[in-house]
Amino acid sequence: MRAVDIIVKKREKGELSKEEINFFVQGFVRGDIPDYQVSAWAMAIVLNGMTAQETTDLTLAMVLSGRILDLTGVVDIAVDKHSSGGVGDKTTLTVLPVVAACGLPVGKMSGRGLGFSGGTLDKLESIPGYRVDLDTDEFKQQLKEKGIVLTGQSLDLAPADGKLYALRDVTGTVQSIPLIASSIMSKKIAGGAQAMVLDVKVGQGAFMETLEMGRQLSALMVRIGELAGREAICLLSDMNQPLGHAVGNALEVAEAIEALHGGGPPDFREHCLEISAHMLRVGKRANDLEQGRRMAQGAISDGTAFAKLRVLVDAQGGDVSYVDHPEKLPRARLIETVDAPRSGWLAEIHARRVGEVAVALGAGRANKLDSVDHAVGVVVARKVGDYVEEGAELFTIHANDENRQAEAEQRLLDAHVFSDVPVPALPLFHG
Ligand code: URA
Repeated sequence: MRAVDIIVKKREKGELSKEEINFFVQGFVRGDIPDYQVSAWAMAIVLNGMTAQETTDLTLAMVLSGRILDLTGVVDIAVDKHSSGGVGDKTTLTVLPVVAACGLPVGKMSGRGLGFSGGTLDKLESIPGYRVDLDTDEFKQQLKEKGIVLTGQSLDLAPADGKLYALRDVTGTVQSIPLIASSIMSKKIAGGAQAMVLDVKVGQGAFMETLEMGRQLSALMVRIGELAGREAICLLSDMNQPLGHAVGNALEVAEAIEALHGGGPPDFREHCLEISAHMLRVGKRANDLEQGRRMAQGAISDGTAFAKLRVLVDAQGGDVSYVDHPEKLPRARLIETVDAPRSGWLAEIHARRVGEVAVALGAGRANKLDSVDHAVGVVVARKVGDYVEEGAELFTIHANDENRQAEAEQRLLDAHVFSDVPVPALPLFHG
C-alpha cells in the first residue's frame, strides 16, 4: 500500500477499507507517513466525508495506536465528559470538581485549543506549576487517592489522535463530522470510560454549525459507543454566542472559579449544573437528573466543589494561591472596555468571530509549535436578547499588543449585531 493511493482514493470519494485506514494511521504514528500527506488525507476527508463504517474503523485504529487505560479497581464506574469545542467553554474546570465533590471520582484527559475553540489544557496552564503531563500510573494513583484528575492526553493513549489533532488545528481540517467523532470517541475509549457525557456544541461558534450536523455527530458517537460497549449520552448545547462571558485562558479560569463559588454568569452556571446532573446520573450517584442537579447545586453551595478544585490543583503541582486569589492569574498589559455604539436589543454575538479574535490576540495558536498567551482574551458583557443602552459597557479586550488590540475592537464591534425590536434569549440546550 502507498499513502498517496489512499489519499487519491478519498479525493475521488472512494470508501476506504479497514486495512487502508489502519495502514494510514499506523504509518502516521510511526512517522513513516509525513505530516503533508496526512494533511492532504485529512482535507480529502473534510471535503468528501466518511461512511459510518470508515469512521468506526478510524476510531478503532486510533484507539489501537496506543494503550487502553484499565480503571478496574481504581473506580467503580469510569465516567468521562467531553465537549466538541466552543468559545468560552470552560465547563470542565467547573464540572469536574462539582461531580467529584458529589462522590463520583473523575479522571479526564483534556486537549489544547483547536482552531477558534479554546482548550482546557491551555486554560489550566494559566496556573503556575500545574502539570498536564501525568503518566498513566500517576493518573491512576491520583484518581484513587484524590478522586479527581485533569491532565493532558497521555502520550501512550490514542497517540494517533494526539498527532492528528495538532495537525488539524493548523491545516483547516477540524470541521468534519467523521474526524471529530473519531477524535473524541478514540480518546474516551482509550481513556477507559465506561459511560460518557458528550457536550455537542451547535451554532456559529461550534464546529457543528447546524442542529442537523449536531444530531449527525451525536448519532455517530452514540453508535461508535454502542459498538465499543460504552454508554454515550449527547447533549446538544447552543454555541451561537460565547458560553458565559470570558473567552481566553486565564480569564476563563477565573470565571470557572466564580461559578464554583456560586457566582459567575447565569448561563454558564446553568450549563454546568445540567452537565453535572447527567454525569451524576450515568455515574449512578443520582437516580435521576433532578437529584443530580440538587447534588451539584449542594456541592457548590457548601463549598465542597471549590475545595475539590484546590485538591486537584495542589495534587498536580499548581500554586493553589492562584485559585484562592484569581486576581493573581496572568493579566494583560492593555485592558480596554468598549461601550455600545447605539441602543437596542442584542440580536447576535457571533461566537466564532469572538473566538477568532481571542486567538488573534494570542490566546490560541496559528502554528503547531506556537505558545499561547494566557493573559489575553475578551470578556463580553452582554447576552443575546439583552437591551443595551448606547454608551453602556459592551465588551472588554485584554491585549498585550497595541495593533492586535485595535484590530480586535473593530472585529468585536462587528460581531455584535443590534436590533430595534426585542429579540428572545437563546436557549442553552437544543436536546
Ligand atoms: N474535540 C476533539 O477532541 N476532537 C475534535 O476533533 C474536535 C473537538
